[in-house]
Amino acid sequence: MFLDVLCCNMTQTFRIKGLGGKKILSGELSPHGAKNAVLKVLAATALFSESIEISNIPDIEDVNSMILLLEKSGFFIKRLGARRLVCQPPRKTAARINTDIAKKLRASIVLTGPFLSRYGKISFPHPGGCVIGERPIDLFLSAFQKMGARVSRNKDYYTINAPKNGLRGANIFFENISVTATETLMLAAILARGETILSNCAMEPEIKYLAEFLNSCGARITGAGTPTICVIGGELLRNTKNIVYKTPPDRIETGSFLILGALCARDVTIKNCIPEHAASTIAILERMGVSLNIGKNYIKITNDFSGKGKKHFLATGVKTHEYPGFPTDLQALMTVFLTQASGEALVFETIFEGRLNYIELLNRMGARITSMDQHRILVKGPTPLRGRKLESPDLRAGLAYVIAALVAKGTSFIHNANYIDRGYEKIDERLREIGADIERV
Ligand code: EPU
Repeated sequence: MFLDVLCCNMTQTFRIKGLGGKKILSGELSPHGAKNAVLKVLAATALFSESIEISNIPDIEDVNSMILLLEKSGFFIKRLGARRLVCQPPRKTAARINTDIAKKLRASIVLTGPFLSRYGKISFPHPGGCVIGERPIDLFLSAFQKMGARVSRNKDYYTINAPKNGLRGANIFFENISVTATETLMLAAILARGETILSNCAMEPEIKYLAEFLNSCGARITGAGTPTICVIGGELLRNTKNIVYKTPPDRIETGSFLILGALCARDVTIKNCIPEHAASTIAILERMGVSLNIGKNYIKITNDFSGKGKKHFLATGVKTHEYPGFPTDLQALMTVFLTQASGEALVFETIFEGRLNYIELLNRMGARITSMDQHRILVKGPTPLRGRKLESPDLRAGLAYVIAALVAKGTSFIHNANYIDRGYEKIDERLREIGADIERV
């Protein structure tokens, strides 16, 4: 396992032959299980008295890192095939999170909640992950203090100790809406004494899905998926009904495929997805003139531009927002889309202050994007793009470059493709299946 992760870490490059604006890809794509769902359920296994089975696991680097992190903390993990595993938490753990792995993975912070409430102590470094802004953890630390924990910090590590008789329930108001803070505190509250009320919570569907699974194993959580979550603490969870957690389809992959399809495909069907979870992206694309046929679990994109690129989509302003608003994780991809739309549009990144650093390389490809400030850019389109040598700055911007390279005329090389592998499973193979000329070199 460890060797696999090391190998994935070697720098990878995608070579992509662009379509020169032609919309000719065709076929089917299916999102795999959601990265940001499975990482959290893996962390939540620490709350169980017995082993838990998880299915529909995407084969991506972030999941491998989380598994390794758990194994290093004494969890027993057995693979049951490509997309399924069983995870058994230890009775005791050293409760020190491995630095090298945690520094690569933002989701490592989610371990703090279940570890603290079950094992009473945790030491961990500042979590890593994509460099898209400051990514502080103040909300977590102040919430744990409200639950009675003591927080200390030295140069490399935070250490948090729960009171001797365990965390106590508390009223916690999150001053910022944070996905991982909502999940972490919801998990911490499950074994705390008494009632915890979390306000101004993130409402991502992965949170609701996780709560429903935990409730079926004895947790008492209400309100997940709304701004106020109430948790009544209790004993270790038990999966008496042998329920297998099935990872829901990745809504960010669904949105990515929608944007890719609208730009590059004659017709593409995204199968096995939950269209409702991509509602904000669908609304924007339809407003811009993309033709979508939406079923219960599929979305079909049809472009009737005859591959000649005569007609263009209409530019529209885009503002990222917490779910159910337009996701920050699709912001860079939408910018690429706007370079091909007719008119001027403002892209307003409201969540992270470092998530617009990909525009310089898009401009080198021929885009006309002006930076207004740390959070806003102006995109003028349509502009033809040319193939270039690019370097993926993070996971999502990396996929935005893949899409830009497919739209462009000529060949592009995208270095640091392993960033993309962190969240999109074998994207090169999947895009080849719908006709893209993309190779890993
Ligand atoms: N924030 C604070 N203090 C905190 C925590 C967050 O001020 O203690 C602020 C952040 O600085 C940011 C805002 O709150 O301005 C929202 O950040 P959030 O905590 O929601 O982000 P996250 O939980 O670290 C998750 C996803 C991200 C996704 C964001 C927003 C995981 C592992 N990561 O990050 O996913 O962009 O929510 O939806 O769930 C990705 O998949 O590529 C990715 C980056």
